[in-house]
Amino acid sequence: MNSKQSVMTLDEFTIQELRNFPGATGQLSGLLRGIGLAAKRVNVEVNKAGIADILGEAGRTNVQGEAVKKLDEFANEQFIDALRTSIYCCGMASEENEDFIPFLDEHSMNSKYVVLIDPLDGSGNIDVNISIGTIFSVYRRITPEGTPCKLEDFLQPGSAQIAAGYIIYGSSTMLVYATRRSVQGFTLDPSIGEFCLSHPNLKCPADGEIFSINMGYYHLYDDATRRVIDGFLAKTPQERIYKHRAVGCMVAEIHRTLIQGGVFFYPAYGKYQSGRLRLCYECNPMSFLVEKAGGVSLAAAAQRLLDVQPTRLHQRTPIFIGSSTMMEGVKARLAAMSTVV
Ligand code: AHG
Ligand code: MN
Ligand code: MN
Repeated sequence: MNSKQSVMTLDEFTIQELRNFPGATGQLSGLLRGIGLAAKRVNVEVNKAGIADILGEAGRTNVQGEAVKKLDEFANEQFIDALRTSIYCCGMASEENEDFIPFLDEHSMNSKYVVLIDPLDGSGNIDVNISIGTIFSVYRRITPEGTPCKLEDFLQPGSAQIAAGYIIYGSSTMLVYATRRSVQGFTLDPSIGEFCLSHPNLKCPADGEIFSINMGYYHLYDDATRRVIDGFLAKTPQERIYKHRAVGCMVAEIHRTLIQGGVFFYPAYGKYQSGRLRLCYECNPMSFLVEKAGGVSLAAAAQRLLDVQPTRLHQRTPIFIGSSTMMEGVKARLAAMSTVV
């Protein structure tokens, strides 16, 4: 027998957390365990994507008008099933479904949370074996418990989130989530099939070396965004050198930013004049998590992203997010341009 103290699993951790809060009902812990279970099922499929004829388009487009991969559908079904059977939320909304899904059984309807989810983020990376992810967000419902949930339960500003997190299916699979108190990271131990606490109390470094943005759109960004980018490009060898990275998966960009520090931007450009990433499924949960880890997230120079009031489920937004010190410079450059006539 190994004398080394064993690492705490996600289930053990969430149950232990309950002991610290005697009034807690266990609904949030139950939700997190349900999400963890669905993530493990998705992880198995992601790992065999190369051999299991699951690659490629599923032959339809999602409500955003984008091609849906088979894994997107599989992941969506897993999270819907897990959340429905968890009985700890009264409904969910998914990037892959036009409308929210109410759970109308008695137990679910009596629960106090709703969940929003991007079941598979960075799906363009599936075919090329690069990291993909899942993003989730939990709100306390506004409508009374015991009644069917309504759209208003899902259209709350990100600052009202109770918890948010992501799963990254990468060189290892991790589940990282934030509550109002802290950010915790768990790594999937494939030998026991459990997420184990590997990154307790995650903090985003205040400074970093990396800026991340799709540079292919450089000439389509507005002047303010180009000014922000130009601020990270060394013009002489004496200047501070930043590295540019772009994985094409927001989960991966945010995970790297949390661990190593840095900034990630997905601004408005060309045909996406309101940005491309989704406020409710992607940007709100990531902004909540990064802020809880000490970072900053903006939708514009003078607009904290978490304060944006959503008006539509599938609303998009520009995002500038990352390490606090680097974001001070970003904010100043965005603001400087917006005051130029
Ligand atoms: P999704 O797979 O859920 O549609 O999201 C992919 C997103 C995001 O994760 C990534 O940062 C962005 O698309 C990449 O877009 P570009 O190819 O335009 O950079
Ligand atoms: Mn996405
Ligand atoms: Mn997606």
